[in-house]
Amino acid sequence: MNKERVGHFYDVVWTEYIPEYEATEKHWEIFYSREEVMGKSVLDAGCGTGIFSIIFSNKGAGKVTGIDISEGSLETARSLKEKFRLHNTEFQKQDMLHLPFENESFDIVWAWGTVHHTTDPFKAIEELIRVLKRDGSLLLAVYTKTKLTFIHEIIRKTLVRTPKKIWTLLSKIFAFFLAPVVFFFKKREKSRKGEKLEELILDWYFVPIRHYYTPDEIRTFLQERGFVIEKFLPASGRFNSTSNFIFKARKQSS
Ligand SMILES: C[S@@+](CC[C@H](N)C(=O)[O-])C[C@H]1O[C@@H](n2cnc3c(N)ncnc32)[C@H](O)[C@@H]1O
Repeated sequence: MNKERVGHFYDVVWTEYIPEYEATEKHWEIFYSREEVMGKSVLDAGCGTGIFSIIFSNKGAGKVTGIDISEGSLETARSLKEKFRLHNTEFQKQDMLHLPFENESFDIVWAWGTVHHTTDPFKAIEELIRVLKRDGSLLLAVYTKTKLTFIHEIIRKTLVRTPKKIWTLLSKIFAFFLAPVVFFFKKREKSRKGEKLEELILDWYFVPIRHYYTPDEIRTFLQERGFVIEKFLPASGRFNSTSNFIFKARKQSS
């Protein structure tokens, strides 16, 4: 049920939202190079509207599979695939917690901002690890637990209880009051181009499931499963957002 709520939420919130290509590509380049992905099989787990799948494909990946539970987002992803005329990329409706792929199917598994929206993020990571080949590369971007997390959670848990039909209006009202603060910190200008502040608020405070972790929790989980951490960005989510931390880790071959 919760999974359906998340899928439906993203049908409404992200379907129209395609992150800006060049800014996203720059961010992707922090973690991978063309050489590293050339000919590789990639799983984009929780691909949303598919921008990272498209980038992997344009960078020379051999086969890219984007999966998501939001059919609306997948439709946008498929039209993006047509636009870029990519034949090695496919988008499927699948639940990250129960992937229909064989063990060790992918060279690279990319999960940007997704496991924390599942009912069981550690199970989701286990599933991603299962389908990753030995010596394969895993990229995880996860919401950071901070001292302020509980305040965000009080707001979110209150807001998700309000009637759905007023969510857009509420997020517009929040955006109206927050706009001067955001302008003051000049964060938005450089940040999620193409996404309005009210959409960002909707995504942040109205999403049905949201978990937060410390980097140590995720690092330990990965290391206990034999991963070597290759890259860690502590508070540098996509487009300078401070809400995510990111691990790039390699599954050991034995
Ligand atoms: C914040 S969006 C990120 C989309 C994309 N990774 C990006 O960075 O543009 C989170 C995505 O995770 C998807 N998601 C949440 N739970 C999922 C699950 N159990 N299985 C697959 N996708 C899921 C949502 O539908 C949504 O599209």
